[in-house]
Amino acid sequence: MVAIVCFSPEVLYQACALLTAGDVVAIPTETVYGLAADATNDKAVAKIYSVKQRPEFNPLIIHCHSAQQAKQYVAFDSRAEKLADILWPGPITFVLKRRADSPLSLLASSGLDTLAIRIPAHPVAQALIKAYSKPLAAPSANLSQTISPTSAIDVQASLGSRVPLIIDGGQTRVGVESTIIDLTEETPKILRPGGISVEQIQSIIGSVDVETGRGIKAPGMMARHYAPSVPMRLDAMTPENGELFLGFGDMESEYNLSLSGNLEEAAANLFRLMRLMDQPGIKAIAVAPIPRHGLGLAINDRLTRAATREG
Ligand code: TXA
Ligand code: MG
Repeated sequence: MVAIVCFSPEVLYQACALLTAGDVVAIPTETVYGLAADATNDKAVAKIYSVKQRPEFNPLIIHCHSAQQAKQYVAFDSRAEKLADILWPGPITFVLKRRADSPLSLLASSGLDTLAIRIPAHPVAQALIKAYSKPLAAPSANLSQTISPTSAIDVQASLGSRVPLIIDGGQTRVGVESTIIDLTEETPKILRPGGISVEQIQSIIGSVDVETGRGIKAPGMMARHYAPSVPMRLDAMTPENGELFLGFGDMESEYNLSLSGNLEEAAANLFRLMRLMDQPGIKAIAVAPIPRHGLGLAINDRLTRAATREG
């Protein structure tokens, strides 16, 4: 079983050496842990897919340390500038036109002429991307179609010895993946709800389209994702026989996303509690209704995917 290490100058050095050699490293971000590889190295990017056992080459998010670095790879417009000014570094990913001279791996973007790019806020991710000086491609550091990891131990449980290094950065602060916004069309479109709410985005750039649920257009976003091994039953008021109950707000339950009904706290707890409740022998995980505003949109999106049995 691969060791989990705390961040230090030596670990930074070791991580850079692994990345240079085309290997992968599991790193903390403020959303979920990422499985990072050199985004300019096709072989290294291919390794991400094989380690995760991803069935298809979904395009990956490219992580930079600053907007300035990101501009080497994608073309910014005024909306991207405005959003970046206020929300980066942070849990939002922009889909933008790839620059013709971009040296990034085509495999990382599945050959698309657009690129998904974000600036993570976590100090460990920041330090590593700065030290390495090249952008990192990083999907969540878990086997494909399983629950995204929000701690180093989650990564270890999912990927074990498939990764040479797991850097511990504590429990992630946001707990759900970044919001993905497509800025390549006239009207910006939310492709994946996430750590930044739609309301917050609208307050900066005005109206945006939102695509949620089964019809989501982000290429490769399978309906079933983030799933525990037991069935999920959503919008449940009380548990039935044999079910564990995941509450929200002032509810009687061993497991509760947020006793005070705080959606940010609920997002941060979501994947951790889904893991904890994923116990063989139970009939299902019943989940209380979660309001569909603010981060509630991202929470409901992940719950719906987890509840989808086919696909
Ligand atoms: O919070 C996060 O975003 C985490 C952490 C590790 O940074 N990363 C993450 O990456 O969730 P990943 O690879 O699991 O999600 C990438 C998503 C996919 O759903 C993919 O379809 C979409 O981004 N995507 C990537 N490139 C795209 C593009 N050019 N156009 C549209 N969607 C794209
Ligand atoms: Mg993922």
